[in-house]
Amino acid sequence: MEKNFLKTSDFSRAELEEIIETAVKFKSGEIADKPLSGKSVALVFFNPSLRTRASMQVGVYELGGNAVILEPGGTSWTLEHREGVVMDSDKTEHLAEFVRVLERYVAAIGVRTFANLQDWDLERTEPILSAFERYAAKPVINLESAMHHPCQSMADMLTIREKFGNRKKKVLLSWAWHPKPLPMAVPNSFSLAAAQFGHDLRIAHPKGYELDDELLAEIENQAKENGGSLEIVNRVDEAFEDIDVVYAKSWGSKNFYGDLHKDLEFRAPFRKDWIVDESKMVRANDAIFMHCLPVRRNVIVTDSVIDSPRSVVIDEAENRLHIQKAIITKLLS
Ligand code: CP
Repeated sequence: MEKNFLKTSDFSRAELEEIIETAVKFKSGEIADKPLSGKSVALVFFNPSLRTRASMQVGVYELGGNAVILEPGGTSWTLEHREGVVMDSDKTEHLAEFVRVLERYVAAIGVRTFANLQDWDLERTEPILSAFERYAAKPVINLESAMHHPCQSMADMLTIREKFGNRKKKVLLSWAWHPKPLPMAVPNSFSLAAAQFGHDLRIAHPKGYELDDELLAEIENQAKENGGSLEIVNRVDEAFEDIDVVYAKSWGSKNFYGDLHKDLEFRAPFRKDWIVDESKMVRANDAIFMHCLPVRRNVIVTDSVIDSPRSVVIDEAENRLHIQKAIITKLLS
């Protein structure tokens, strides 16, 4: 059994199914286990959060534990992660000490560390999350890194399961225009998990917004192994036909990491068409609408879609709590 929870593809389909089943039982009240009784979990946030922070803090409490929230550069020291550097600039403490001290106090460490969208080749290797993994003997939980947001994608799979049961569905990940380039962790993790759960996945984005090549190959393999499929389309008018689940998300182009102004110029023509609105939803199969939140209304999705009965974004956010309790329970079992 994997010690850490860094990405869903570190786990078998059976293990992921077991986590979903446990989350369902936590949600229904069938179980109320307290595996963290008398223990603490550190939650390290390099970036802002509502859902992840609140649901983890509440989840740890409901599992009988205590959450220690740290914000490097805010409520704790600025952190260096590179090995062998002369620390004579703005970083006060090295992760080598930070992690090994922290885990003397806690049972697990959660960490949120977004991509900076500056250096694609470097950031796709998860330099900060990998440093946590390297130094930690206790479980590390990815609360969104440069490349993955597995707690979100497991909550997404739980939400699809609640709405449709165990049947595989036709799910669409649709790129959306946004006024600034965003990291790829959510689209990566949603696509990977959808493939692992055997859904027929369609990814729609304008040319230039391709996901990571290696990850796409893994998504395709997972889809084949699990009875699903992968299709990529570059025209928004081809995206919504025959779809059961619409998942909207914006992300930045890996071609423009380090020069985000170029991404903004490049994406400008896509603003009008790449929004989820009623005219697109009616082309789908009475589909549910999903988004990880936060979402910019009338930019990513119109009010009429996100406020419609087909929108499940609030259930999706609630499911973060239940799935994370199940993930922590599995890691500590
Ligand atoms: N979806 C999600 O991770 O939300 P937060 O950024 O608010 O945690």
